[in-house]
Amino acid sequence: MTDKMDLGNLTSPLNLALILVIGYVVIELRDFTPKELAEFNGIDGKPIYLAVCGKVFDVSSKPDFYGPGSMYENFSGRDASRGLAKNSFDPSVLTDVDLPIDKLDNLAAEEKNSLEEWFQFFSGKYTCIGQLVENK
Ligand code: HEM
Ligand SMILES: *[C@@H]1O[C@H](CO)[C@@H](O)[C@H](O)[C@H]1NC(C)=O
Repeated sequence: MTDKMDLGNLTSPLNLALILVIGYVVIELRDFTPKELAEFNGIDGKPIYLAVCGKVFDVSSKPDFYGPGSMYENFSGRDASRGLAKNSFDPSVLTDVDLPIDKLDNLAAEEKNSLEEWFQFFSGKYTCIGQLVENK
């Protein structure tokens, strides 16, 4: 009789590999508070993340748009939702990272449509790596 693989054994190499893969995915889809997200603005070679509609996207692949000195640098590490809704990258559309997350409940209908289109754009182009949650 040949030995059967013991699928119940958690220490088998296959199961250890699966646990690592699952753990990696869970860690990658992490929660970011506004303060945590602010770290990821591309300065000092860090990745560049931004939030749209509560989801965090990795835009590190486009430092020419989002890196330091770029046109949309002020969205980096921040919740870009209001700016995208209002078609503005003025600092005034950004919520201070110490404040509660922008509820976006006072946007005009066309601003909400614009934001929804931008959300589709980011979902299609970039990897969603997590979600925005309130500061602790
Ligand atoms: C002076 C006015 C503006 C000009 C000339 C301009 C120009 C451009 C250009 C050339 C692109 C690249 C398109 C491509 O190659 O895929 C782009 C993308 C983009 N623009 Fe603007 N833009 C302007 C205003 C704005 C404003 C006000 C916003 C703020 C909401 C904005 C947000 C974006 C975003 C988020 C992208 C996508 C970048 C990406 O692919 O990730 N733009 N813009
Ligand atoms: C980003 O914000 C700063 C102020 O916080 C401002 O001086 C700068 O012009 C902004 N950059 C762009 C590209 O709008």
